[in-house]
Amino acid sequence: MIEVKKGMSEKEIEDYVNYVLNQMSLEEKVDQMKGKRFLFKVIQDRGVGKRTYDGAGSRRFNIPSFEFTDGPRGVIIPGSTCFPVSMARGASWDPDLEERIGNVIGRETRAHGGNLYGGVCINLLRHPAWGRAQETYGEDPFLIGEFGAALTRGVQKHNVMATAKHFAANSIEKARFKVNVKIDERTLREVYLPHFKRCVDEGCATIMSAYNKVRGKYCGHNDYLLRDILKGEWGFKGFVHSDWMYGVKDTVGGVTGGLDVEMPRAKYYKYKKIKSALNNGEITEEMIDEAAKRVMRTILKYTTREDPQNYGEDLIGCDEHYKLALEAAERSMVLLKNDSVILPLDKNEIKKLTIFGKYASVKNIGDYGSSAVSVKEVSTPLKGLRKYLGDSIEIVGSNGKDLTLVKELVKEADVSVVIVGLNWRDEGEYIKELRIGGDRDNLSLHDKDIELIKTVASETENCIVVLIGGSAITMEEWKDQVPAILMAWYSGVEGGNALAKILFGEVNPGGKLTFTIPKDPQDLPFFDKNADEIEYGYYHGYTLFDKENYELAFPFGFGLSYTTFSYGNIQVEVNNDRIIGSIEVKNTGDVAGDEVVQLYIGFEKSQIDRPIKLLKGFKRISLEPNETKNVKIEVPTRNLAWYNQESKSWEIEKIEYTLYMGGTSKKEDLQSIQFIIQNK
Ligand code: BGC
Repeated sequence: MIEVKKGMSEKEIEDYVNYVLNQMSLEEKVDQMKGKRFLFKVIQDRGVGKRTYDGAGSRRFNIPSFEFTDGPRGVIIPGSTCFPVSMARGASWDPDLEERIGNVIGRETRAHGGNLYGGVCINLLRHPAWGRAQETYGEDPFLIGEFGAALTRGVQKHNVMATAKHFAANSIEKARFKVNVKIDERTLREVYLPHFKRCVDEGCATIMSAYNKVRGKYCGHNDYLLRDILKGEWGFKGFVHSDWMYGVKDTVGGVTGGLDVEMPRAKYYKYKKIKSALNNGEITEEMIDEAAKRVMRTILKYTTREDPQNYGEDLIGCDEHYKLALEAAERSMVLLKNDSVILPLDKNEIKKLTIFGKYASVKNIGDYGSSAVSVKEVSTPLKGLRKYLGDSIEIVGSNGKDLTLVKELVKEADVSVVIVGLNWRDEGEYIKELRIGGDRDNLSLHDKDIELIKTVASETENCIVVLIGGSAITMEEWKDQVPAILMAWYSGVEGGNALAKILFGEVNPGGKLTFTIPKDPQDLPFFDKNADEIEYGYYHGYTLFDKENYELAFPFGFGLSYTTFSYGNIQVEVNNDRIIGSIEVKNTGDVAGDEVVQLYIGFEKSQIDRPIKLLKGFKRISLEPNETKNVKIEVPTRNLAWYNQESKSWEIEKIEYTLYMGGTSKKEDLQSIQFIIQNK
């Protein structure tokens, strides 16, 4: 007889699970299909997420339970390291950094006793009003896929199962429990699923189904998504679990749909209900076996692997992890405007600095939904500046409510920093009972913040606006009146320290937007936070703005630096299975800096309706002044394919394509070269 032990091979696990299935009673099998988190435990813990949520497992057969904790901005169990939100990390365009963050999250999950991490949130930002925008990485499926895969890699290195969520088409918050998403096959395949496929290919262990419906069926019951595509076509071997409270609507729907586990506890996957559905012939025993097998196999795969290290409690929120949170905040901030090069500030030229705004000195690290990481001490902008500057510069802070006082303070200062934006009341996971979060009604700042900016700007030429938020903020009412704008995001536990270093040039900002900021929000796709039904079309974000030639405030991929870069000598090479673009990038300024080189493929000669161009590769590089680097980016030829819904297959057009490379998605900022894919 095989026993459960460290270092089991896949074959041994498979044999063991088959043996166990033969021995198990129906009730024992059904035990694998549910979470065990009863309300009294939550009460005992004094709150949701204070400990892991357990589920499945079998003492008789020596199979451990899974122990779930959430994210994505860090492990939600108190004490953990709080990173900048995912949207900020996306703006770093640095998947290696994301993998290192995953590494820390994996370690902290284990140190808390967890082995299942629910924080690989990779839904597409279809519209910036989406309340949970901060939990994902941006509007582009390729970019989201790369980041989701990087986080998965990092977390799973520590034998923690990663959950990619919410499968699928979950991009409206308030209506998430009821909305039906109408979507054609090509849009589903090309726009809303590729990032999930990318994570599955990376080996992500589990998938969380979404609350919403796709084509009339709840995602937790959606056999087309779960059985046909995920488990069938993509060959996913892990298990699917539901989203929390209302992710399963009935026993038969969930089981036939391919949902393996009901979380966080059984309502419809109770033994009695499953048994009666079996007796009525509405579900089959094979379905139960399949679910139980997937769960046990996945748990054993992760819990029997040798660990790369020990996971003592001292790892939780340790200095090394905080250092990474600082690095992430530094690498993710995006400089949107810097007229007459007002930034970076020079310590030696400033005597007095004023800092205004309601987020200057309060903890504002994201929403209070399932991704909230509770930390006692946060580096706020004011704290960060005080720590960085010591006594060298006088800092005067005010919340900015009294505009007469603001004017007086501005006049006395050399420079004024205004910290404004959003918080958990404006955007976040919608929690009805607490009446918090949800989608935004408006993409601009609050009137009071705009008034504050305008007041400060009317008194000084040295007004720097720092924006806090998790998604696009429109700025047309005030952006021309200020010389500098920095998008600082919800920047985690070390955010204020990172901000100070950026404002004073110790760190040169290199982040870039991963979404489009429109001039006119009317140009965005239709969005209704209360929708019962909505159609998700093929175009959104930069593909929509490209196609319709709509005016932009800031394009996807945009971000400034304290230096400048020039591009030249674009080349393309077409091999059997890949296209290699290369370009020379030179730092033409006086300071070292990072540039995010982006590669887009253009489909102008396509025989069908295709986007003008799509992001297919990127690389963040560092350059010293005057240094030139030749940047090579490879695109597998299969990534040029489109989904033909008639033939139900991915096809590569044999046409002339354009390869674009440059530092933003704007055509004028890109160099281009043509290449041909021919019939072999
Ligand atoms: C959220 C999920 C989350 C789960 C457990 C749900 O409300 O939609 O994203 O993983 O709670 O924390």
